[in-house]
Amino acid sequence: MRIVLSVALSSDWCLDDCSQQRLVISNDKDWDEVYALRGECDAILVGAETLRRDNPGLRIKSELIRSERISRGMSPDISRITMTRSGVLDPNLKFFSPEGDAIVFTENRGVGGLERSTRVICRRCLSARCVANELERMGCKQLMVEGGAQILRMFLAEGVFDELRVAQSPIVVGEESAPKLVEPWKMHPMVLEREYRLDDMTIRWFRRIGSDGRTDYEFMNRAIELSRRCEKVATHYCVGAVIVTADGRVFEGYTGETGEHDHAEEAAVLKADRTGADLRGATIYSSMEPCSKRSSKPRSCSEIIIERGMSRVVFALSEPTHFVSNCQGESMLRRAGIEVVRMPELADRVEDVNAYLNN
Ligand SMILES: NC(=O)c1ccc[n+]([C@@H]2O[C@H](COP(=O)([O-])OP(=O)(O)OC[C@H]3O[C@@H](n4cnc5c(N)ncnc54)[C@H](OP(=O)(O)O)[C@@H]3O)[C@@H](O)[C@H]2O)c1
Repeated sequence: MRIVLSVALSSDWCLDDCSQQRLVISNDKDWDEVYALRGECDAILVGAETLRRDNPGLRIKSELIRSERISRGMSPDISRITMTRSGVLDPNLKFFSPEGDAIVFTENRGVGGLERSTRVICRRCLSARCVANELERMGCKQLMVEGGAQILRMFLAEGVFDELRVAQSPIVVGEESAPKLVEPWKMHPMVLEREYRLDDMTIRWFRRIGSDGRTDYEFMNRAIELSRRCEKVATHYCVGAVIVTADGRVFEGYTGETGEHDHAEEAAVLKADRTGADLRGATIYSSMEPCSKRSSKPRSCSEIIIERGMSRVVFALSEPTHFVSNCQGESMLRRAGIEVVRMPELADRVEDVNAYLNN
């Protein structure tokens, strides 16, 4: 299961101020990105205190995102999840609205109100890992954790996350007792992977460091580097690919490397096959969206990725329309339950490598 932690912060790292009113930190563009991110997730988790203070709806309102979810075989509504020790939750909270599931993890089943939830999961001692495992057992493939501070700190400290998205605004709260993310807590190591602006906000994506310490950014850079080795011919794009297996083995390829008509993904798969490597659960990095249609081969790269049981695809540039007008690689992979990560900030480098096709 992919877990994304998402938080909006003031410039002094507060999630809110001390007033009764909810402090609006995000701007419109940030909200749009957060809503799009929610649209990719099966479930969204916020702590009980956030429900009590802000009473958020946690719904997907955009009809476009709802219909996209349906076409991917997902429920149009995201499952709403909360955690509470006390079990004190007002049954009239929007969290308990009838659309979609409302799931409560609690250490105290005995308090009223919880009967309005779809499911109450009671455990003597709740941790981030315990919640993640339970949700994964229920079929959750992508979870978004949106706060507040206590809940985020728990996931960060236990290292139960893949990515942390921090949207920081220029607002200064300046109140000592406001909820903050920068209190002394033990945080799992992570690296800053991407940084960009959305008007006055700075968006930073951090990735939890895995066992070998390499990041998506580094693997994608390597894939782009490999794409430069391709022969620049008019019949194919120049693409590089890197496969990282679940047990950490790395296989690389580029278009045309193993055969005239072999795509980069096929070259990397072929090299993995030669060693007998198991590709189930692997991540494949491709500088360009894996293809969904082939004229020269029976199966597309997206089909191969699905058949081989890979669980994650990262690419930089969506397939341009030079050879095929409407590549369906990304949606095909998502429909198969594969996590797809786009790195549009590296797309222009892939366009540069392929600029010769426009001449
Ligand atoms: N800026 C943002 O992006 C953002 C996002 C979300 C929220 N917020 C703000 O954050 C503030 C709330 O943050 P917060 O840190 O006070 O609260 P919180 O993290 O939303 O919720 C804390 C509550 O979660 C429950 N909890 C925590 N650990 C638990 C565990 N291990 N097992 C079971 N239950 C557990 C407890 O509920 P009980 O008390 O019921 O036992 C605890 O009081 C609000 O002001 C809200 O506006 C900001």
